[in-house]
Amino acid sequence: MTQSRAGLAIVTGASSGIGRELAGLCAAAGYDLVVAADERSIEESAHALRGCGVRVDALNVDLATAAGVDCLHQAVRGRRVDALLANAGHGLGGPFLDQDFTQARHVIDTNVTGTLDLIQRVGRDMRAQGRGRILITGSIAGFIPGTFNAVYNGTKAFIDSFAAALRDELKETGVTVTCLMPGPTQTRFFERANLADTKVGQGRKDNPADVARTGFDAMLKGEADVVSGLERALEAVAAPATPSGIRADPHRRQTTPVAKADRI
Ligand SMILES: NC(=O)c1ccc[n+]([C@@H]2O[C@H](COP(=O)([O-])OP(=O)(O)OC[C@H]3O[C@@H](n4cnc5c(N)ncnc54)[C@H](OP(=O)(O)O)[C@@H]3O)[C@@H](O)[C@H]2O)c1
Repeated sequence: MTQSRAGLAIVTGASSGIGRELAGLCAAAGYDLVVAADERSIEESAHALRGCGVRVDALNVDLATAAGVDCLHQAVRGRRVDALLANAGHGLGGPFLDQDFTQARHVIDTNVTGTLDLIQRVGRDMRAQGRGRILITGSIAGFIPGTFNAVYNGTKAFIDSFAAALRDELKETGVTVTCLMPGPTQTRFFERANLADTKVGQGRKDNPADVARTGFDAMLKGEADVVSGLERALEAVAAPATPSGIRADPHRRQTTPVAKADRI
């Protein structure tokens, strides 16, 4: 099969939620795809995406590991990557001192280390070819100290900051970096992070298709940061001017198990 006119896009975390929607938008726009996730359900996503008439290669890899990132990078070797949508990530609810550090480390290794490793490898190729689009899924969580999801919010603060710096480093190279910063979105995120039984887990959330559309459009335009939804945008604007203690307290109420929250 010859390469599509839109080119080739890599989408990580494409088996569900925001990543699945992002992959759908890429396919509808005519991108061939390499999609990756760490469970076999990525094959089902790939099967559905092929219905758009584009080539889709699916990889079942743990992007928290160097071996997983290497496998993904090898899969695109020799092909020009036009867009990298680095979206895979997960949270871990609960008090930090009571967490299994292996699980906490996996959050950091997925959201930060594996994400940066992939961006560096693909970004070098893009810089050499003088063009490319990078979309990184950060979060408005990066603006807020994440009581009872502390490691996760820390990783997203890192990613939000990193994306802005990389964007600046790459200006005038033809490679753009866009950071999508969603607020709470209706995906498997909360269940996986053991946050389903919390106010934020049970509260109103944004639609992943709308969130993905916001990020995808911004990526195509080469925009910098995008926060999905007006309410979220206002939170993001207000955050830097608000002391961290004041920002942490509402988060505590949102991420405390519902049964306990009434007593706080
Ligand atoms: N939902 C929200 O409220 C929200 C808000 C702000 C930002 N975000 C961010 O949005 C991104 C997508 O999350 P989502 O909400 O769409 O949740 P989701 O439905 O749970 O999707 C997460 C995706 O990431 C993949 N993934 C997680 N860890 C991985 C690993 N180590 N290696 C490979 N793939 C991995 C998952 O693959 P498997 O299914 O194969 O495990 C899945 O495809 C994440 O970066 C998340 O932090 C989410």
